[in-house]
Amino acid sequence: MFLATAPGKVILVGEHAVVYGRPAIAAPVWQTVATATIAPAAPGSGCHIIAPDVGLALRLADAGDDEPLAVVTRLALARLGITRAPDWQITLHSDIPIASGMGSGAALSTALVRAVMLGAGHAAEPAEVSDLVYESERFYHGTPSGIDNTVVAYGMPIWFVKGQPPEPFVPAHPISLAIADSGIRSPTKETVGDVRRAWSEDPARYEDIFDEIGRTVLAARHALEAGDSLELGRVMDANQTLLERLDVSSPVLATLIGAARKAGALGAKLSGGGRGGNMIALVDDRVMRPVCDALAAAGARRVIVTQIGGTQD
Ligand code: PMV
Repeated sequence: MFLATAPGKVILVGEHAVVYGRPAIAAPVWQTVATATIAPAAPGSGCHIIAPDVGLALRLADAGDDEPLAVVTRLALARLGITRAPDWQITLHSDIPIASGMGSGAALSTALVRAVMLGAGHAAEPAEVSDLVYESERFYHGTPSGIDNTVVAYGMPIWFVKGQPPEPFVPAHPISLAIADSGIRSPTKETVGDVRRAWSEDPARYEDIFDEIGRTVLAARHALEAGDSLELGRVMDANQTLLERLDVSSPVLATLIGAARKAGALGAKLSGGGRGGNMIALVDDRVMRPVCDALAAAGARRVIVTQIGGTQD
């Protein structure tokens, strides 16, 4: 029996613009994880993948190339030079909300790749896992920047620029985030596609917004390095305003963001693809409870508190 896990993730600043080459900062969220277990199956039965939480059951040999979990399993086996799938029952579980900006697809694929590699006796490097998961991410996203697979496979906060090796990133002091789920599922592929359409109609306007987002990401990095939470909160708010200009926020997200700010959050913004999914609020010990209560009262389905740069990373 082999077991592998992978965390959820949040994008602290820089989503969407990161698809167009600007930097972004992302961090794992270990309070919510995906797991993959491999158990030996009857000889000759082949490799089966089941995900009981989402009602998925497939036999690898029969699955089409439109099934990302089958694709990533085949890629992992091929990477190891295994041409005949082993007789395995692979079981996947995840409590990461689906289509909610927390990297659920990347986490499932990461846990799966790690388990396959473990099962085949191979100690997988994060970069190797990340590359394989990127292939499957293209099914979820269309034109992914690669940030999700990278932060989930490395399992540490990163400074990310598309096409470049990630820079692990350690804030001067750990910061705490309240993460609230709007309960609205919003596939990243759709918001990324909408931004692309808008950009292709008016590239100059959108490139300007992406540049401004890039500047907020740099300011966020400086604030994190200086341990300046007030400034980081201001930068997160500025990033939210720019995401609204990209038209990827929504009334429900705006309500949660407003509630968090009113309860004393230092900054708040959507995180991930937007429209629905999760928002994040920067909190300190003093306001953590009131902000979490305010988010729940404003309709959040679930509120998680996580630390970036703490011992868990
Ligand atoms: O998977 P999500 O919803 O966290 O979105 C990823 C962030 C985007 O910048 C919107 C897309 C991408 O590929 O970087």
